[in-house]
Amino acid sequence: MSSYDLQINGQAYSIQAEAEMPLLWVLRDLLGLTGTKFSCGKGECGACTVLIDGEPTRSCTTLVESVAGKSIITIEGLSADISHPLQKAWIEERVVQCGYCQPGQIMNAAALLEKNPHPTDEQIDAAMSDVLCRCGTYQRVRQAIHRAAEEV
Ligand code: FES
Ligand code: FES
Repeated sequence: MSSYDLQINGQAYSIQAEAEMPLLWVLRDLLGLTGTKFSCGKGECGACTVLIDGEPTRSCTTLVESVAGKSIITIEGLSADISHPLQKAWIEERVVQCGYCQPGQIMNAAALLEKNPHPTDEQIDAAMSDVLCRCGTYQRVRQAIHRAAEEV
């Protein structure tokens, strides 16, 4: 076990963990930040996406030792009251079906809009294509990103 100082959603945390523990386990099991979802567990689906220094990153394959001192943003950190333009757009466009993939979708979209505030359909599809949704919400995800882009 080692000690790690983490910056998550603007808050400082000091945790004890094995160096090879995935960030996803730290978030969910040690810190109770269960908004980030576990699905495939091997970097293929994107459900566990968080932002690390602004980059969308799969927390199930990211070791805790590699993120010490970096800025980590989870779905809980987007806003305290569901007021982020993406969260509002997701509600207005009724994107969610089962919901399981959606925290990863939203965090990936947040990174996209940070880099490209007004993406085209093609740019959205390219940026979002590797976050999988077995409920097939892709069309509404795209609409919600356009709606959020009007606000950011
Ligand atoms: S749970 Fe991390 S990529 Fe699927
Ligand atoms: S909303 Fe069900 S997996 Fe995406």
